[in-house]
Amino acid sequence: MSTSPKPVKKVPIHLQSAANRVYIKNGEIVNHDKSFKADVYIEDGIIKFVGPPSEITIPGGVRTIDASGLLIIPGGIDPHTHMQLPFGGAVAVDDFYSGTKAAVAGGTTMIIDFVLPNKHESMIEAYDKWRSWADPKVCCDYGLHVGITWWSKSVSEELGILCKELGVNSFKTFMAYKGLYQLNDSDLLDVFERIRQLNGVAMVHAENGDIIAKNTQRLLAEGINGPEGHELSRPEEVEAEAVHRACVLAHQMKTPLFVSGLTSKSSAELVGRARRSGYCVFGETLASSIGRSMSGVSKAERIYYITSPPIRESAETPRQLMKSLAYDDLQLTGSDNCTFNKEHKAKGKGDFTKIPNGVNGVEDRMSLVWEKGVQAGLLDPCRFVAVTSTNAAKIFNIYPQKGRIAVGSDADIVIWNPNATRTISKDTHHQACDFNIFEGMTVHGVCEFVLVRGRICAERGQVRVAEGFGRFIPTPVRPPFVYDIIEGKVQSAVQEDHPEERQNGGGNSVAKKF
Ligand code: URP
Ligand code: ZN
Ligand code: ZN
Repeated sequence: MSTSPKPVKKVPIHLQSAANRVYIKNGEIVNHDKSFKADVYIEDGIIKFVGPPSEITIPGGVRTIDASGLLIIPGGIDPHTHMQLPFGGAVAVDDFYSGTKAAVAGGTTMIIDFVLPNKHESMIEAYDKWRSWADPKVCCDYGLHVGITWWSKSVSEELGILCKELGVNSFKTFMAYKGLYQLNDSDLLDVFERIRQLNGVAMVHAENGDIIAKNTQRLLAEGINGPEGHELSRPEEVEAEAVHRACVLAHQMKTPLFVSGLTSKSSAELVGRARRSGYCVFGETLASSIGRSMSGVSKAERIYYITSPPIRESAETPRQLMKSLAYDDLQLTGSDNCTFNKEHKAKGKGDFTKIPNGVNGVEDRMSLVWEKGVQAGLLDPCRFVAVTSTNAAKIFNIYPQKGRIAVGSDADIVIWNPNATRTISKDTHHQACDFNIFEGMTVHGVCEFVLVRGRICAERGQVRVAEGFGRFIPTPVRPPFVYDIIEGKVQSAVQEDHPEERQNGGGNSVAKKF
């Protein structure tokens, strides 16, 4: 028998970390429906206990965190990112490593990115490409939506495979980007019909691409070629028209619709109206549009803020959108994180149509929603959790695995200091881009700890993520939260408020100051 020592079998970093035992004591848990004082015990990446300390005996070798005075919230879920997206002649500089590291630093523990196939590219091949980019790099869990960037019988068949075998339940259509991603109404109807057949969720980028193309031609002919031309070519009513049309098209096909990245008051109101009319529609707004407006941005700097739909000019818009989140006209906040460096943006100097679209936000979304929502007196902490995490988990059918602090849920947890502040800057952010559209803003709401499936990935400003630790999270079809509405099991998408279940915020999603 050989006496030579057996080689030491190294436990991979993700297994070591996931096995960590963590005990969080003295904190206040905030879920979307109630908040309460309780301790939390985590083992193997899963929440094993939530309750009073008298009901648990803590084993040895446990890391204990004292969360006195702090909130214990479900990790953020950002339902809208574009890491390393090839777009507009450049590739987004945040890849799945830096992008998810930044997400974690800011309290987001899961992202849902978009596979955007090229025209005539197979959806499955594009999906495989995104998985090969993301799987080795992600520091937090992630899911995928797939863009329907062209339409044919083969695409329709591939949607079935994506739903049944590859863990995708949501498909984004585009009413803008004429000549690139835009579908006409007839194709949109077919796509919505197919998604309904598969029990999926339709998503839409709602801006009227034909009007934008016309306006762009006219503006360039008039010599308006600077970044100011971007919003001039796609004013609010161009967004609102498409939002209304998308709601009607999806309603006619009895398909649930997620309206992606709304940036204007009129569009938010249309989504609210559709919901109150019984349509199964959900609306997302963006960190960039609740965090700031274009008011006061110099002509020279505007190039760095170009994204679609645009961040609006009016200084009133961020507050109006926040009110829409409070009133449940809108349900979610995403970042639409799609970052380019200054040199990439400069490609569009002298022709606004050539500016790569997109801005940062994945790192700052949670703090911005807290600052402009809770700190401003418009949201209570429960509604903050709903619009940053739980509603995304419910719509994309990963609740309560994600989006809730409860026994059996993944230990994606943020220990949140509502009173601490930080000042946003490109010099301290974790994103790869060389500017930050929120530069110099001071925001309340700081992560003291961020746990991704039980692994402590950020601790009092120190970010220690592990590349590849994140997992792909399949999103199964027929989310009950969505399909119970479609199938008439609940009256409408408008949620009943249950004051008896709410223990703060006066039993309302709108905080007392409002
Ligand atoms: O302007 C943006 N956000 N670019 C990314 C593509 C999209 O519209 O989602
Ligand atoms: Zn979009
Ligand atoms: Zn987007």
